[in-house]
Formats: sequence, structure tokens, C-alpha cells
Amino acid sequence: MNILAAQNDVRANQPFPLAEAAATEPEVAKRFSSERNVGPVRLAHPITLAPMEEHTNHPFRLLMKEFGASLVCTERVDAVDVARRDRRALRILHTTPQETPRAGQISGADPVTMAEAARIVEERGFNLVDLNFECPIRRLLNRGEGGALLADPPAIGRIVTAVVRAVSIPVTLKIRSGPDGSHETATLVARAAEAAGAAAVDVHARSVAQAYVGGPDWDVVGRVKRSVRIAVLGSGGVRQAEDALGFLRQTGADGVAIGRGCLGNPWIFRQARALLQGHTGIRPPLPRERGQVLLQLIEGEFRYYGLQVALRRLPRTSCYFAKFVSNFSAFRTAVHQVRDLNAFRRLVKEHFR
Ligand SMILES: Cc1cc2nc3c(=O)[nH]c(=O)nc-3n(C[C@H](O)[C@H](O)[C@H](O)COP(=O)(O)O)c2cc1C
Repeated sequence: MNILAAQNDVRANQPFPLAEAAATEPEVAKRFSSERNVGPVRLAHPITLAPMEEHTNHPFRLLMKEFGASLVCTERVDAVDVARRDRRALRILHTTPQETPRAGQISGADPVTMAEAARIVEERGFNLVDLNFECPIRRLLNRGEGGALLADPPAIGRIVTAVVRAVSIPVTLKIRSGPDGSHETATLVARAAEAAGAAAVDVHARSVAQAYVGGPDWDVVGRVKRSVRIAVLGSGGVRQAEDALGFLRQTGADGVAIGRGCLGNPWIFRQARALLQGHTGIRPPLPRERGQVLLQLIEGEFRYYGLQVALRRLPRTSCYFAKFVSNFSAFRTAVHQVRDLNAFRRLVKEHFR
């Protein structure tokens, strides 16, 4: 399909049939195992990786892809930094073809700067540019960016219009239910974005005021899905593979993004995919397998960040994996003493068996 033509024609997105809420598990499995599009980008299935600052770096995304995430996304980067080609910002936007299809995410409030940054995201090789209108960090909210923009759907429409004009890859949005529990703007925002040419919207089912705590309200994703024709994905509270299936059934969304549920547990992608295909009883990984995968990620981080930064990140990244093994506290104490990759290899061999 011609990318430009598809971008300009929101009908190119085949909206997924509604009424998932009423479907039985086998029905859901059948429907969601088929391929579908986000704009002209094909997703093999609906289980995707949610963007997470400090986590979804290049080695992490490659790993999640290997475990079956159908779409991966960088963490949010300030559009201002991208537009002035700041070294750290461009580093976050490092990508390679193995992670195709992948999205690069930017945030900002100025349409011109967002358009310039989006051009750079495209130039870096990303298949989608994702605009962040969800971030609850105070610094961003004070600048009128991220989640602050959910209070102003027309402003989001203007930004999307500018970005859609600037790039030939599909433009997607990451939003929340609204600024707070008593102001739900997600449907208005999704409609404004659709009218401006966005290819998909991804709804984190919490308000900005909630940040990351409190139960997600999956029903808001269903309301957004019923209000637009473009693809709708969502996230929030998927901790186990079964939750992903429940999310898709309850919301009727075209996709579900897994966030914290995959930290230390990339197997969740395989398990969720298997459930969608009607397989049950997937065996959990053995400790040895967990160790091998952790090592793969850490070796990637050493290559990507270099020794100093990789060592600083090591305890946190590896403890997400170690919490699944029985001697967690001994591992946690020992990992703080690690000074190089070989020492870490020995530690993994000792604790993951
Ligand atoms: C540590 C952390 C960092 C996050 N960073 C981003 C980000 O950079 N961009 C974004 O759109 N969402 C970000 N999110 C939100 C996630 O993409 C996701 O929507 C949210 O965590 C809900 O899913 P969960 O409850 O399954 O974790 C972040 C979430 C966490 C926990």
C-alpha cells in the first residue's frame, strides 16, 4: 500500500469489529490472531510494547520483539531536543531494522517544533511517529506539554495537523482518559486527532492526575474505540497474559500495550499471544532460561550504554528478573558489588539455576 496515500486516507485503517465484550475467548482468539494495520503499518497481532522512560531502550525493544511484541516504541523524547539534534535525544532515537515496525515518541506543545522533530524521527528510520499527550511529569505539565494538552483537544488537533503535513510515516498519539477523574477528554481528543489525519490512538486508561497508581478504567478505551474509525490501542494494568486477553475483550480495542507487566518478564508476550491463539497451559520459564534472557539484555545494555552507565543501571534492570527466583535478596545484595560483565555472568550462573 502506498504510504502517502494511506496516511491521507483514514479509511485505509480497517477498524476492528466492535462487540468484543460479548465475545467468548475462542472467538477473540480467532479474530485477534489475524493481521491488521495501523495506518499502512502492519501489526502481526494486537500485543504491543508500551513505551517506558528508562526502560524501553534499543536492547530492551529488540528483546521484547524477539519475545513477540508486534509493535515497539521508544520512550518519550522532548521535541525541542530532537529538533536541535541534541546528542542524548538522538541516542534515544537510535533504531535498527530488526525492530520493525517501531515508533519513535516525541512530546511538545509547539506545532512547528513537533513537526521538525517528527521529520527527524522519520529520518532515523522509524515506521511511526508517536506524539505523547500523556506524560504526568510536573516539569512537562508546567510547560503545557504531555498530559497538560489533554485539557485542550483543539491544540492537539493543531499539533497533529502540523506533524501529519511534515512526515510521510503514520502519526499516532498516546493519550490518557483526561486531565483528572472528573474531566474525561479522551474521546474529544481522539476525534480531533482523527480529523487531523492521525492513524491511531493509544489510550493509557488512567487520568493524568492518577499518574501510574490506582486502578485503570478500561472502559474509557472502549468509549474511544466506539467514537473513531482509526485504530485504537490501549494500556493499563496488564500484569499477566490473561489480563491482555481481558483488556481486548472488554474494550474492543485493536491492540493492547504491555507496560510494567513485561519488566523482567518478556515471556508475557509469548504467553498472551498463545492465549489469543487458543493455547493454554504455557509453561513458565525455568530459572536458567530467565538468567539467559537477563544476560542477553544486560550484554545489550553494556554495548549500548558503555560500562559506566550500564553498571549504574544494572541493579534495577536485573532485579526485575531476579524477583522471579527464590534467592532474590541474596542476588540483590551481590549485584551491587558487580564491577564488570564477567562478574555479572558469574552471578547469574550462580543464582539463576
Ligand atoms: C516507568 C514508566 C515510564 C513510562 N514512560 C512513558 C513514556 O515515555 N511515554 C509514554 O507514552 N508512556 C510512558 N509510560 C506509560 C506506559 O506506556 C503505559 O501506558 C502505562 O505504564 C500503563 O500500563 P501498565 O499499567 O501496564 O504499566 C511509562 C510508564 C512507566 C511505568
